[in-house]
Amino acid sequence: MLKEVIATRYITPLREGGSLPGLVEADDFGTYVLKFTGAGQGRKTLVAEVVCGELARRLGFRVPRLVTVDVDPVLGLGEPDQQVQELLKSSGGTNLGMDFLSGALGFDPLAFEVSAEEAGRIVWFDALVNNVDRSWRNPNLLRLHGETWLIDHGATMIWHHNWPAAEASAARPYDAADHALARFAPDVRSAAAALAPLVTGELLAEVTAEIPDVWLLDEPGFATPDDLRRAYARPLLARAATIHERVKGER
Ligand SMILES: Nc1ncnc2c1ncn2[C@@H]1O[C@H](COP(=O)(O)OP(=O)(O)OP(=O)(O)O)[C@@H](O)[C@H]1O
Ligand SMILES: [Mg+2]
Repeated sequence: MLKEVIATRYITPLREGGSLPGLVEADDFGTYVLKFTGAGQGRKTLVAEVVCGELARRLGFRVPRLVTVDVDPVLGLGEPDQQVQELLKSSGGTNLGMDFLSGALGFDPLAFEVSAEEAGRIVWFDALVNNVDRSWRNPNLLRLHGETWLIDHGATMIWHHNWPAAEASAARPYDAADHALARFAPDVRSAAAALAPLVTGELLAEVTAEIPDVWLLDEPGFATPDDLRRAYARPLLARAATIHERVKGER
């Protein structure tokens, strides 16, 4: 289970983020980037962050630690910014937090070097989860002490927006032409050989168990949160074996 903390202070919005994530302080004295359950993109974005973030971590990628953050809408009362106030008001209860990497720089494909090996691993992972939000325009990668960190997995697994068509959607190729790391000659084949065998049913059960139940309730067609967890696991298991053959435009 993800660690649970309680937000004690709203510090500031992170204006670069489209969903207006906020920086908060919590009762464990940690500083977290908060992704709001009341943000326009909805709670599926948060589910995607947990599934992809926790899967990536278990595959050996650097991902800031994820926690759940309990928000009391009262926190918003003193907020001068109307938009922030609305977000806090509509996000009572369980939200997503991640360790704030103080001093990290946004990844710039023209300023940083990445090996073909590392680029291959990241492109392969993004193909697996169908991440459409790691382009050179918006890399969603951070650099800290010369190391690359993966953030922002909200725009992945497009199939979870239409479960009846999930199987067909998950069979589609991945277009890496615009990928932030496309210019580093990503070695997707070697990455697939190393990583695909690790993506087992067991691992995916462990990963999906991390999704808080409250974000899985009332999904049409699913009686229980665990049914929905299995639906998240299935397309990933199916894609892991062969997605490297369907990565377009990576070179
Ligand atoms: N864990 C972190 N540590 C430090 N900075 C972070 C962290 N997470 C996010 N940021 C900063 O905040 C910005 C917005 O975060 P993120 O990309 O997750 O939000 P978003 O609303 O999903 O953005 P997008 O506009 O890409 O959809 C990042 O580009 C980065 O500059
Ligand atoms: Mg982003």
